[in-house]
Amino acid sequence: MFRLHDAQLGQTSWNQWQGRCGHQPQIRGTQIFTLVLDVHCESFSAIAPDVIDKKSQISILAASVKAYVAFERLIETGEIFVRTEHLKYLACPQCKQTLVILEVEKRNSQSVEAGTLQCSSCRQKYGIVRHIPRFVALENYASGFGLQWAIHARTQYDSYSGANISETRFFNETRWPKDLKGQVILEVGSGSGRFTEQAASTGAMVVSMDYSQAVEANYASNGDRDNVLIVQGDIYNMPFRENYFDKVLCIGVLQHTPKVEESFMQLPQYLKPGGEMVIDVYRKFAGLLGLLRTRYWVRPITRRIPAERLYALVKRYVESMWPISGWISKIPRIGRNLNLALLIADYRGVYTLSDEMLREWAILDTFDKLSPAYDYPQTLETVKTWFLQTDLINVQVQYGYNGIEGRGTKAFGFFSELNRK
Ligand SMILES: C[S@@+](CC[C@H](N)C(=O)[O-])C[C@H]1O[C@@H](n2cnc3c(N)ncnc32)[C@H](O)[C@@H]1O
Ligand SMILES: [Zn+2]
Repeated sequence: MFRLHDAQLGQTSWNQWQGRCGHQPQIRGTQIFTLVLDVHCESFSAIAPDVIDKKSQISILAASVKAYVAFERLIETGEIFVRTEHLKYLACPQCKQTLVILEVEKRNSQSVEAGTLQCSSCRQKYGIVRHIPRFVALENYASGFGLQWAIHARTQYDSYSGANISETRFFNETRWPKDLKGQVILEVGSGSGRFTEQAASTGAMVVSMDYSQAVEANYASNGDRDNVLIVQGDIYNMPFRENYFDKVLCIGVLQHTPKVEESFMQLPQYLKPGGEMVIDVYRKFAGLLGLLRTRYWVRPITRRIPAERLYALVKRYVESMWPISGWISKIPRIGRNLNLALLIADYRGVYTLSDEMLREWAILDTFDKLSPAYDYPQTLETVKTWFLQTDLINVQVQYGYNGIEGRGTKAFGFFSELNRK
């Protein structure tokens, strides 16, 4: 393996560089070298192709020195932003090559607020809007989620409700330890970010993506944490480095994508060998239990109603039914399911929250069941079959939160290990 300081950059200056940015670049071919330059010296990305062409240590040395000098200058002039370091988690969704900052229109002391990213290879450009790198059209099939999470930006946050509902679910479902410092978690489909908050509390770096405008809500709650990067992107075309993340988390999401199996199959490629993935998906019921999932009767209509209108209808319905569903929820064993059959997500008796909060949860979750463009529940067998087709080992698939939950660890392989930076 070839390291930058082996290229006689000089151990002293190299240590300084590492000390400044905390980055530990190792060169495996020219690609990573491009990354080093791009991440830390974005204005010098043009140097990299030169290096690639000549493939000589001398040009690497020259480029390194130039980049180092430029890096020092950027620090001195205050033109380098702390969050620029987050660029290293991203990759062009089209060709998976590194991204550089092409333009900065607006910035604050912490990060680029508005600007443009560009792929160092295919030259595709991507915007940064309100601090969030955007890799998809701002409006898409998940717009209803955008509205839902704008109105209920904080509803399910433990730091808002005072309960520990999201914390309990996060740690029970992932089975991850409470301290994950030094690890990098990729969260796919983060919604308003209640689990981003939990993931970030472990001290891990959390890279959190959603397709919808929910990223705004997540940014408002978690965006100012040093260890959180929020991105708007699509599960089918993710803007991240492959074979890189220690953990991949995708909960509450898969059933809401148009091709559930294909969505699932996207996830393992972002895990490093030895990394762990946790998913969940709605459970498909057969027979009478299936028939009692009445939302599937009405969804063909409700999912076509414009989100604002549907939200107003749901709110009115839940509020008018609230006293009745309160009585129903007291019926032992079947009360909650009866309420669900009446299309009311009533959590009385399940969560210890104030009546006002329970009503907020009911409106949110009732809308969440009726509005999504896609809702494709799955059987346990189907999910097991998916896992079998991946290179994940230690697989566990069982009934649990959200219906079915599954987890697995990416197998070590000689070549996949080499891909890790
Ligand atoms: C029910 S919410 C779950 C949010 C969060 N994980 C939670 O449990 O609170 C589902 C989320 O999946 C997102 N989503 C749907 N399709 C997606 C896609 N193709 N790529 C990424 N996210 C997607 C939606 O925008 C929405 O925020
Ligand atoms: Zn590209």
